[in-house]
Amino acid sequence: MEINGSSAIVTGGASGLGEATARLLAQRGATVIVADLNADAGEALAKEIGGQFVRTDVSSTDDVMAAVDAAIAKAPLFSVVNCAGIGWASRTIGKDGEYGSAHDLDLYRKVIEVNLVGTFNVCRLAASKMSLNTPDADGSRGAIVNTASVAAEDGQIGQVAYSSSKGGVVGLTLPLARDLSAVGIRANCILPGLIDTPIYGTGEASEEFKARLGTGVLFPKRLGLSEEFASLAVELLANSYINAESIRIDAGIRMPPK
Ligand SMILES: NC(=O)c1ccc[n+]([C@@H]2O[C@H](COP(=O)([O-])OP(=O)(O)OC[C@H]3O[C@@H](n4cnc5c(N)ncnc54)[C@H](O)[C@@H]3O)[C@@H](O)[C@H]2O)c1
Repeated sequence: MEINGSSAIVTGGASGLGEATARLLAQRGATVIVADLNADAGEALAKEIGGQFVRTDVSSTDDVMAAVDAAIAKAPLFSVVNCAGIGWASRTIGKDGEYGSAHDLDLYRKVIEVNLVGTFNVCRLAASKMSLNTPDADGSRGAIVNTASVAAEDGQIGQVAYSSSKGGVVGLTLPLARDLSAVGIRANCILPGLIDTPIYGTGEASEEFKARLGTGVLFPKRLGLSEEFASLAVELLANSYINAESIRIDAGIRMPPK
């Protein structure tokens, strides 16, 4: 699928995996809509790569429609990469058997709302407009890449909310691809392992934490680079024969219970 000359939406595009993907899509000739909550970083990146920042909460219908409208005003929207996401660590129960010590239900709902509902919200609204694209010679009207996590398959202690949300993103991949096949839109999913991004924070403590995490990686024994994620995301967009697939990019890691 040709990326040059089309528009693309990257949610969570102001940081980390989304930022690297936005940069690579721009290098490949797409006009990129950076759809994120972080206006300062998003505006700066959009300016640098010749795209446009649209302040977007992925769980808001109005915000996402505005991002989609901004994309199609630039060029036909052929690429969507969902990278917006949040993490939260908490065990299901506390140590004292009290109801009040159980996992906060609002925090559970929040993680599901952003990571799962937000991802689907972008898919349903973007694909609606992509279905109006003039198809290419292969009948393609575009492609979507969603971001889950290896936590969808090897969720650790304290990751019940995050793993539920990412398991949902993996689970929606096949029916989403089946729904959208009628209009020639592909959908795939990436399950990143440990990729070095601001999601782990900054400073000495976070560097130590990341170094410890890296020891569990099979090979190469290091955290991944956001550019390695971006390269896979863009391949999943451009390669017209990859559809309904969920792919780990994790250097072989299998996460232990903790
Ligand atoms: N970095 C990793 O090791 C790793 C591993 C597995 C999965 N992931 C997933 O990859 C995605 C990107 O992670 P990252 O490491 O680049 O994180 P990051 O924190 O660097 O970037 C996430 C971006 O999402 C944005 N965002 C958060 N909530 C949003 C919302 N409601 N609407 C719009 N934007 C919102 C943030 O402002 C931020 O710019 C996330 O879904 C994360 O769960 C990351």
